Amino acid sequence: MFYCIMVSKIKNGIYMKITVIQGPNLNMLGTREQNIYGGMKLEQIHQQMRDVATQNGFEIDFFQTNLEGEIVDKIQECLGDSDGIIINPAAYTHTSIAIRDAITAVNLPTIEVHISNIYRREEFRQKSLIAPVVAGQISGFGPFTYHLAMMGMVQILNEIKVLQEQQSQKSLKS
Ligand code: DQA
Repeated sequence: MFYCIMVSKIKNGIYMKITVIQGPNLNMLGTREQNIYGGMKLEQIHQQMRDVATQNGFEIDFFQTNLEGEIVDKIQECLGDSDGIIINPAAYTHTSIAIRDAITAVNLPTIEVHISNIYRREEFRQKSLIAPVVAGQISGFGPFTYHLAMMGMVQILNEIKVLQEQQSQKSLKS
């Protein structure tokens, strides 16, 4: 897979940045349908992700909105600013060509997250417009799904780091 890694900087020699984008109604986690989404608040989930990012030497940024266009804007802003995206587009997963196009346009490694297993829910949730354009989708492990997504992203970014190091060593030699 060829990602847009030219713009991804290894800031201060070490840091790469992960952007986490949360779609509509995810600000209500902890209150909303706890039988489906669990009892953790969004801020608690983000704290756990921040811990993983710090432990692995990555910068991390969080963004939540209920508006589709703001998700598109945020994805576009990631170009040149971020090295990977973890996104739960929530209900827009099933409807948004605009979010799908934005992900394709920036061409950054992207992981799609769903707290619930969308494939064992209502029929209208079983189709993701996002899945065909991301590196991978993780769905159905409750709030722990975000942790699994972090593991996936750390792996992808570490692989990119190794590639970049190999490329810069090659260009030093030539
Ligand atoms: C969700 C699943 C979507 O169908 C739903 O609209 C959401 C949350 C999930 O994380 O399981 O808001 O993305």
